[in-house]
Amino acid sequence: MELFTEGKIKFFAENKQTRDSKVFFNPMRDFDRDLNVIFINALGKHELRGIDLFGGSGVRGLRLASETNAFNLMRINDLKTSAIISKNVKLNTSKLKSKIDVTSFDATDIYSSKEGYDYLDIDPFGSPVRYLLQAMPKVRYGGVMALTATDGAALYGKATRAGTLKYGAKSFKTSYFNEVGLRILIKRTEEIANMYDRSVTPLFFDVRRHYLRVYFRAGKADARRKLGYIYQCTSCPNRSLMHSDHCEFCGEKNIEIGPLWLGRLFERDLVKTMYNLAQDERVKRYLQTMKGESDAVSYYTTAELASYLKSKEKSVDAYGTKTVLNDKGFRSEREFKDMLEEYRKLE
Ligand SMILES: C[S@@+](CC[C@H](N)C(=O)[O-])C[C@H]1O[C@@H](n2cnc3c(N)ncnc32)[C@H](O)[C@@H]1O
Repeated sequence: MELFTEGKIKFFAENKQTRDSKVFFNPMRDFDRDLNVIFINALGKHELRGIDLFGGSGVRGLRLASETNAFNLMRINDLKTSAIISKNVKLNTSKLKSKIDVTSFDATDIYSSKEGYDYLDIDPFGSPVRYLLQAMPKVRYGGVMALTATDGAALYGKATRAGTLKYGAKSFKTSYFNEVGLRILIKRTEEIANMYDRSVTPLFFDVRRHYLRVYFRAGKADARRKLGYIYQCTSCPNRSLMHSDHCEFCGEKNIEIGPLWLGRLFERDLVKTMYNLAQDERVKRYLQTMKGESDAVSYYTTAELASYLKSKEKSVDAYGTKTVLNDKGFRSEREFKDMLEEYRKLE
């Protein structure tokens, strides 16, 4: 075990992650936990009951309990690591702003508990879907849920069988594969919410490589579900949200991706508040890009346009809005042919 510091807390965890590791901790995800803290602060809520259902070392729950004033109670649960979490709680007693309760139940047992939460965090290994099924009804109306999926291969169209089985959607390797994965994850969450006569609204997201994290508000069921498909041309970069077997631009065959979420991916006002609270430069940069990002479904990359036109790649700044999902990606509200025209003019 080694002593780490992150944000305002100190904690013991293992410094190497191997198959035999007893306490999961990924220092590379400090950025995601920084965002988590700012997200909670930006909600501006108080006296919440929170649960970190997959606590690991306890770092996330402890940071939320010491770097925000949002919670009355933060429960940190983990099937295997409650002893180390308790030790880490003691190490930080003076910094905690809420009561902490350490538990060690199996996350799937949450379904039979009578308690509800205003904030529920699901951060397991792999897909969160089966835990979501049990935990969804435990998020209070108006409450917030954070969800991590680390099975990017299933969501990004690499492990197609797993994707279809777990997420009930067909993914496909595209230039905007991480957005497809994100929208499929949100679609599945909405479907599970609907089973309990609820709906979810995505508030914020954070996607790095095979790791996807989305924050939702849980609310009453909304019959105007924003689910559908993307029709991606197999020959050119063009895509459409309207059902068509062939590309309107080049006439080649389209492939149907989905079903997936076609609504907004984040709440802009909340992201603006987060930006105003942020101090760290890396976090500020991320939020700056996101708050200016258009709501157009799917982004293009400068590389795919250059390759299609067999021309030199141009700077992403010349088009639409940038996206946090790809340094060379941009969103445009324009039709593909108009966008290409613009691109050509930049020669
Ligand atoms: C990815 S780690 C959590 C990381 C942590 N949230 C963080 O930010 O560092 C997943 C944790 O879930 C725990 N776990 C696995 N299966 C579980 C289950 N069925 N119920 C509760 N905890 C479980 C593991 O012991 C592991 O510590």
